[in-house]
Amino acid sequence: METTVRNKQVILKHYTKGFPEESDLMIATALDTMELKVKPGSSAILVKNLFLSCDPYMGTFMREPDSGSSEVAVETLPLLDAFLPGKPIAGVGVSEVIDSDDPGFAKGDFVWGIVGWEEYSTVNSFGRFRIDVNIDVPLSYYTGILSVTGLTAYAGFFEICSPKKGETVFVSAAAGAVGHLVGQFAKLMGCYVVGSAGSKQKVDLLLDKFGFDDAFNYKEEPDLNAALKRCLPQGIDIYFENVGGKMLDSVLMNMNVHGRIAVCGMISQYHIESKEGIQNLPVVIYKRIKMQGFLALDFVDRFPKFLDYVVPYLNERKLVYIEDIVEGLENGPAALFRLFQGQNIGKQVIKIA
Ligand SMILES: NC(=O)c1ccc[n+]([C@@H]2O[C@H](COP(=O)([O-])OP(=O)(O)OC[C@H]3O[C@@H](n4cnc5c(N)ncnc54)[C@H](OP(=O)(O)O)[C@@H]3O)[C@@H](O)[C@H]2O)c1
Repeated sequence: METTVRNKQVILKHYTKGFPEESDLMIATALDTMELKVKPGSSAILVKNLFLSCDPYMGTFMREPDSGSSEVAVETLPLLDAFLPGKPIAGVGVSEVIDSDDPGFAKGDFVWGIVGWEEYSTVNSFGRFRIDVNIDVPLSYYTGILSVTGLTAYAGFFEICSPKKGETVFVSAAAGAVGHLVGQFAKLMGCYVVGSAGSKQKVDLLLDKFGFDDAFNYKEEPDLNAALKRCLPQGIDIYFENVGGKMLDSVLMNMNVHGRIAVCGMISQYHIESKEGIQNLPVVIYKRIKMQGFLALDFVDRFPKFLDYVVPYLNERKLVYIEDIVEGLENGPAALFRLFQGQNIGKQVIKIA
């Protein structure tokens, strides 16, 4: 095996303004060689990255921190620090330990956690989870269902929404990574579940593969309020919010008394200069709606409980998990931007080794 490499990386060229584009990133091979050994006494872990997760927040982190990323929570700032012009961007990745000066990790371990978008990363143990290879799933699942994506769906649905059997649930961006899991968790709970997505292919998947009770293509509905009334004539008890904007406004009009809204994401608003106003907020009062934003990070302590919940369903094939895998680090920028164009189905992943 080689002892030095020239590391290939995905570099942020400059801070972005407005809608991020693939050309805001570039592939570069480091001029200096990197030794595939950690320094004794450094507590460092050297990993070879195998899979990278593409996440919508990465687009917002590409903007200059004090110029419009006010939605970025303080806790995420250490990650935000990674998004500097001239440096590799970073996100959740699955890696193999090549060398370690940390007693908790050994050569040959598989781990997941934040890494640079690069072939090799020098990391530490903070937020680094060792993968239990006895769980019989592909390693790539630790970019998604068995890491942040899965925890987001689980915590947002169960902890924020307190679902009850028989309740009605509406999920936006329902064919995406988080959405297709929330919908299935809700079905497993015995809820009536409706999803929205941006193409006929996605709507068909929601109905035929993920077991949603009903679904619609929001791009083909001139009146979202009417679409929601058609699919959920009994009203919405739980809304799992992934998109924001006009969808949220229409959902508010269809919420039932004492409904719950988990505000997970608002992808339709991340890159527009002037955010859309919400007209129907007063119904939150009249209908005594609980609406709560959350970050998966808030629920890291629930991670073992989450695994106990989700792994048996995966083993018993009661949960369908879809990955959209793009091969090659050089295709990373294109893979990330698939999210903003709605091209991904399920979890967008990059396989780099
Ligand atoms: N709170 C947290 O801790 C947390 C953690 C992870 C993710 N999130 C949020 O959860 C949401 C889903 O994330 P994900 O990772 O599962 O991504 P995803 O749903 O797999 O991918 C994004 C999807 O959003 C839809 N979309 C893109 N632009 C849109 C627009 N302008 N209007 C409406 N829909 C649009 C597209 O689907 P269509 O084809 O259906 O339009 C696209 O496929 C995002 O808002 C993300 O920021 C939050």
